[in-house]
Amino acid sequence: MDFQSERLTFREFGTKDYDLFSSVYSNGQIMRYAYMDQINSEEEMIEYFNNVLKNNKDEKKRSIYELAVFLKKERFFIGIAVILMGYHISKVKHGEIGYFLLPQFWGKGYATEISKTLTGICFRELKVHKVAASCNVNNTSSENIMKKIGMIKEGELRKERYKDGGWHNELRYGILKEEWKEYC
Ligand SMILES: CC(C)(COP(=O)(O)OP(=O)(O)OC[C@H]1O[C@@H](n2cnc3c(N)ncnc32)[C@H](O)[C@@H]1OP(=O)(O)O)[C@@H](O)C(=O)NCCC(=O)NCCS
Repeated sequence: MDFQSERLTFREFGTKDYDLFSSVYSNGQIMRYAYMDQINSEEEMIEYFNNVLKNNKDEKKRSIYELAVFLKKERFFIGIAVILMGYHISKVKHGEIGYFLLPQFWGKGYATEISKTLTGICFRELKVHKVAASCNVNNTSSENIMKKIGMIKEGELRKERYKDGGWHNELRYGILKEEWKEYC
């Protein structure tokens, strides 16, 4: 699945993108609050990358979209955008969005643009009725994005993720199709 937004292009990872892919998931600053841990071993990174490539070809009942994001103009790689698909019995239920940007591209509104775009794709293309996002309770910049795109706080999940030697609470936000406004 490839698409564009005002300043960004989104595309599936290909075999030549290993270095871009690993530059994100091996970066401790990026992965500090993320739902998955920083990947330190080359072996684990290659395995994960190969899974992503394999998954890209799986068009039927796909469970995850992990997309490379680039600046449209300069064509710089800026990070990874994720949609996790949730199913209930055999019907699509919701999409959960995530974003991992290289630190030099923080504070420029790109993550907000990614979130709006993924939310639109979830509703228009993937036909979900709800888009959700979660973040570590201390990840205020990520929570800020969820609020900015009109998501509503649905709860705080206590001791939901184990990271860096301790259990952390996780905030859960969501937006329903009828609440989504194209202009937000
Ligand atoms: C979470 C993360 C994506 C947030 O990045 P961010 O830089 O704070 O978010 P944005 O890219 O949307 O930038 C927002 C800021 O850019 C500024 N900005 C600058 N130019 C802008 C523009 N043209 N349009 C909009 N905002 C702009 C805004 O002032 C805004 O800050 P504000 O909301 O305080 O006013 C980033 O910190 C990250 O990748 N972290 C690591 C991974 C992670 O934790 N992911 C989330 C959990 S899975």
